[in-house]
Amino acid sequence: MTVVHTEQLSKTYRSGIVRRSEVNALRNVSLEVGSGEIFGLLGPNGAGKTTFVKILLNVSFPTLGSATILNEPLGSINIRKRSGYLPENHRYPNFLTGLETLMMFGRIHGLDPRTLKDKAVSLLQTVGLKDWAHHKIKKYSKGMLQRLGLAQALLNDPEILFLDEPTDGVDPVGRKEIRDLLRDLRNQGKTIFLNSHILSEVELISDRVAILNKGEVIKVGTVDSITRKEDEYEFHLADDVSSDVLSQIKQVYGQVEQDGKLLRVIAQSSEQMNKVIDFLRSKNILIQSIVHRKSTLEESFIELIKAEQA
Ligand SMILES: Nc1ncnc2c1ncn2[C@@H]1O[C@H](COP(=O)(O)OP(=O)(O)O)[C@@H](O)[C@H]1O
Ligand SMILES: [Mg+2]
Repeated sequence: MTVVHTEQLSKTYRSGIVRRSEVNALRNVSLEVGSGEIFGLLGPNGAGKTTFVKILLNVSFPTLGSATILNEPLGSINIRKRSGYLPENHRYPNFLTGLETLMMFGRIHGLDPRTLKDKAVSLLQTVGLKDWAHHKIKKYSKGMLQRLGLAQALLNDPEILFLDEPTDGVDPVGRKEIRDLLRDLRNQGKTIFLNSHILSEVELISDRVAILNKGEVIKVGTVDSITRKEDEYEFHLADDVSSDVLSQIKQVYGQVEQDGKLLRVIAQSSEQMNKVIDFLRSKNILIQSIVHRKSTLEESFIELIKAEQA
């Protein structure tokens, strides 16, 4: 089932009366997110990620285009009931405890007051804040605040979660905890829509990602399909290869680069890669290891943006 469907969503912010200025925050963004996916919307600061989520949640309005969430048109009250939202840089009243914060949001959601406290306590346990339930949140670390925000987003047992930079400012241990939690939620059948500018982070958990740059989607696909390179293998050899051998390899395999004892070969298939092994072995060259290179999401991202500018 399609959970998020957008068609040509565009947003132009206009400001200034005397000196008019316009920002095209989104340009014709068409995306589909399926049920049970962790979908990552990636892009540098200012790419339009927050604007996109705000439009989906009816906090902001599109200049052009249309969208449905859970097959409901934007603005439908059913979307609010069935979704959870962790906004970017949220601020909760400092004087409340974690439990009080969740109770407050639960009342705003209109949850049954008789079961609300149990629900809040159990969510604090889920996000690993049980022992902090009665501490004021001014004592919470950034990671704890993000986890509390996640518990808040889960109060109404949503089918889809919108998380805007959930790990921003969180230390590596806290980030891992949040990732594990998101995987658990996905395994429970929830759909997760994640905004992030931390690519290495999203790479680890997203089923699919879209890359947004200056308001435009420049790529959508699985992390694997975006990061897969032509098959590039690095051969680490025991000795330098003679220029004679190198030119022979080049004649047969074309794309070969040498860097001391390192040989970089682009092979079209593993068969071809094995032929390189056979060739090297026939020359009595000792291979110490072979590494199949893959780019990181960050490398692919930078290449995509460069290609876009060119
Ligand atoms: N309320 C607003 N008024 C005017 N410009 C805005 C507003 N909100 C965001 N922008 C601009 O829109 C662009 C996209 O911002 P945003 O959606 O926050 O990007 P991201 O979340 O990817 O960092 C930026 O250039 C930002 O300055
Ligand atoms: Mg943002």
